[in-house]
Amino acid sequence: MNLINYFSKRKKIVDDALDKLLTSDKKDKAQSCNSDSALNSRTLYEAVRYSVFAGGKRIRPILMMAACEAVAGELGDVLVPACAIEMIHTYSLIHDDLPAMDDDALRRGKPTCHKAYGEATAILAGDALLTEAFAVVSSEEFVKKVKPEIAISVVRGIATAAGYKGMVLGQMIDMEMQGGDIDFARLEYLHIHKTGALLLACVKVGATIGGATKGQLCQLIKYGECIGLAFQIADDILDVVGDSKVIGKEAGMDSKHGKITYPKVVGLHEAKNIAEGLISSALESIKDFGKEADPLRRIARFIIEREK
Ligand code: IPE
Ligand code: IPE
Ligand code: MG
Ligand code: MG
Ligand code: MG
Repeated sequence: MNLINYFSKRKKIVDDALDKLLTSDKKDKAQSCNSDSALNSRTLYEAVRYSVFAGGKRIRPILMMAACEAVAGELGDVLVPACAIEMIHTYSLIHDDLPAMDDDALRRGKPTCHKAYGEATAILAGDALLTEAFAVVSSEEFVKKVKPEIAISVVRGIATAAGYKGMVLGQMIDMEMQGGDIDFARLEYLHIHKTGALLLACVKVGATIGGATKGQLCQLIKYGECIGLAFQIADDILDVVGDSKVIGKEAGMDSKHGKITYPKVVGLHEAKNIAEGLISSALESIKDFGKEADPLRRIARFIIEREK
């Protein structure tokens, strides 16, 4: 399996689907009897599409598809929730970059949304992406593909992972810990929530839609927990060792802003060891799967070997 080929084919599927979902105001007018495109905001559409199509890796949707594939599910069934997760992820990046949060100027190799469009538009573009994600995941296009109880569990799973007890909670703890004391247990909790929760949700949703057995789901959940935490540790490491041109965001900002990160707390070498150990555990937890889980295995390695 050639990972570069696999990623670029999957990325194209996701990008095409996102392009159709995030329509322009003109297209909306054509589909609706009473919408007047002159009253719509071109800026909102442009800001949303600017951030979504700025060039993300699409690791979350690709992961969701791979989890579905690992249990011999239909890829077409996960495409809509996969796009919804990418919308939520992009919203989280737009808000994460705001002056009130990480105050970053570069994202996905381009000026951040608020640098390009202003803070008010960036806040609203993030809000639009978060809410649109739930519009698409509760749309007829998706709901008619799966049983009603599965559709509801997908909506609930994504909402829980993204919000109050998931990513938003993690982001809050990130802000609270900034510039404060080192606390390893709290740092792990923070990473599991701010980044791990959404990645774990991708695995759970993909596997659930794909028809995983209870046993398979348990093994995949363990896999998702391990890669989710490892992903944020790798992100912390890239902030120290990465090249801004390659990572597409300004390196060195974590220490500049007094963020509590794995390299800061345990050192670079130990942070790498911990991430390696998590990937080994992730691979161990799916050892009973056959070659249909090879994409999941390659994604796990990619998470710690990536340069961006
Ligand atoms: C960056 O996520 C933010 C984190 C949760 C660490 P990615 O590294 O997946 O960013 P993109 O989507 O490829 O830009
Ligand atoms: C952000 O973590 C995680 C999110 C939920 C957006 P970081 O703040 O470390 O992400 P980057 O480094 O800005 O991408
Ligand atoms: Mg942040
Ligand atoms: Mg940030
Ligand atoms: Mg980071």
